Amino acid sequence: MITSFQSAKSIGNTPSARHSYKSPPRVRGIGVKFQKGLSTSTYDKSRKSVLAEAAKQPNIQYITQDFSQKFQDFVRENTENPYTNYEQVSNLTAEFLKKNLPDTILKILGDMSKGGKETIVVLKNLPVKLDENALPPTPSDDREDFEKDYVSEYFLLGLAKLMGKPYLMVNEKDGQIIQQIVPSDPKAKSSAGSKEPFEYHTENAHEENPPKIFMLSCIRGDKNANTTYYSLDDLLDNISIETIDELQKPNFLLKTGSVSNTDEFLKTAVLKKNDAGEFEVQLNTAPGRAEGTTDSAETALEEVKDFFASHTRPSVNLEQGDTLILQNKRMFHGRDAFEVSTTQEERRWLQREYVSEDPNSKL
Ligand SMILES: [Fe+2]
Repeated sequence: MITSFQSAKSIGNTPSARHSYKSPPRVRGIGVKFQKGLSTSTYDKSRKSVLAEAAKQPNIQYITQDFSQKFQDFVRENTENPYTNYEQVSNLTAEFLKKNLPDTILKILGDMSKGGKETIVVLKNLPVKLDENALPPTPSDDREDFEKDYVSEYFLLGLAKLMGKPYLMVNEKDGQIIQQIVPSDPKAKSSAGSKEPFEYHTENAHEENPPKIFMLSCIRGDKNANTTYYSLDDLLDNISIETIDELQKPNFLLKTGSVSNTDEFLKTAVLKKNDAGEFEVQLNTAPGRAEGTTDSAETALEEVKDFFASHTRPSVNLEQGDTLILQNKRMFHGRDAFEVSTTQEERRWLQREYVSEDPNSKL
């Protein structure tokens, strides 16, 4: 049984306990990191985009009550703190999930972890806490301590380990392995909450190796906050060949946002092909987050932004117990504008986890 609560913030900040994920060394300030130029290749506009069709709707999978009870029993028996002992927790939980999740779901997760056709999945009806515990109010900002058992944290870490490696952002939100996404200020525009829409982006686009997968667990939903998505394949089917060629040249500066502790940026191509020959993307279309270093690069960027601005934003409303899983380099995401609730008992609360590729993943 978990009998005492611990502060997520204080434990998450213990430097000695941090995961040693290291970003590649980068130059601060005006420094730029150059990546090898990629040869341009003509995109076959005539191909039938099976992948885009698959990504029009999230693949929604329901978790059973039986699994939910078993999972809570598992967490009751394991008292390790996921913010400090995340390796142990992720290993143990991944083993549990592999044994207890239905084969259909394991197959979907395995497909995602291998970069297959599943690019957006929502698991529903997951427990976010033990039945006997109350859910505390949403923290007032992402650094505030809170008292919650670790059911949602265990699940996220287990999933991450099943699909790859839990990935720690050392420069963001105090480098916690699981990040709290909460509105810090009803007027602020951030990943947490805003009256302005959050433009399409891939997570950590300014990193040389952005996470392969990212996940959001909804601890407390808000019926007005919709998470938007748009598949890369769908975008590629709708922009010009010239723009697709241009996006493959390393003529873009990708910049960090206000949540990061650095002002670094990366000079890179926006589109790259992976080992399987599929395009992958890293881009944030929010103002100030990407710029072209040539006129044609700027024009290409504008075409992408114009396309997004002139098309419907498909979205999913995350409810308590939902976990959204995205292939970060194949699917853009964002958020529609919403009014942040003034009471912390009703305010939206998500937990975020990144996953990097691991050839020894458990699936
Ligand atoms: Fe995001």
